[in-house]
Amino acid sequence: MIIPVITIDGPTASGKGTVAHRVAKHLGFHYLDSGALYRLTALSATRQGIALDNEEMLAALARVLPCRFIKGHVLLDGEDVTDAVRAEAIGVAASKIAVLPQVRKALLDLQIAFRYSPGLVADGRDMGTVIFPDATQKVYLTASVEARANRRYKQLIEKGFSANMEDLVKDLAERDARDTVRAAAPLKPAPGAYILDTSEMTVDEAVHVVLDLYANAVKLST
Ligand code: C5P
Repeated sequence: MIIPVITIDGPTASGKGTVAHRVAKHLGFHYLDSGALYRLTALSATRQGIALDNEEMLAALARVLPCRFIKGHVLLDGEDVTDAVRAEAIGVAASKIAVLPQVRKALLDLQIAFRYSPGLVADGRDMGTVIFPDATQKVYLTASVEARANRRYKQLIEKGFSANMEDLVKDLAERDARDTVRAAAPLKPAPGAYILDTSEMTVDEAVHVVLDLYANAVKLST
């Protein structure tokens, strides 16, 4: 039996994490936050003093990443790092190591292992293009830089981090550029992906659109 997958790719702070999580919950599917794997690798590297361009050591680290995801919590070697991985500096570090092909390869099997019954909602940059090219429904979620900076600002403040709008817009633009121009699995809509601009949408509206798309895709495939 083919296990259904919904891929939700898009730029940083487009709201894909929240939407993907809600869609997964509604359908009773598993949820893969692939960005967290790059963030965990970056956090672990930073703590161990591994340079963010040392491809070989970073890949070795990623290959045996001692991570677990339990009820919305992210654990690294048993330590709860849910908040630590969300820090902006770790996001920036994650996007730097994500350009390295060996690191991407090292995280491949770990991501594929999330696909088990009854189904998976996977969020990231290359879910529809590289990791799950046979997904049941592919979505490319995007929003204007201003809308995304606003959302990221609120997220960071809620988590008790300090944030500055000007720096955030600059960070987002730099990360967009790094994610889009890199040679390995660049950020781009997968063939056949539905492009959903959420700049003017609530989370509820976006979740409904994705659920409708999935229901239609299932109907068409049966
Ligand atoms: O989605 P999130 O902001 O947590 O991802 C952190 C970084 O990890 C991104 O900026 C991106 O460079 C990288 N990433 C990636 N491929 C994925 C998920 C995340 O390259 N599938």
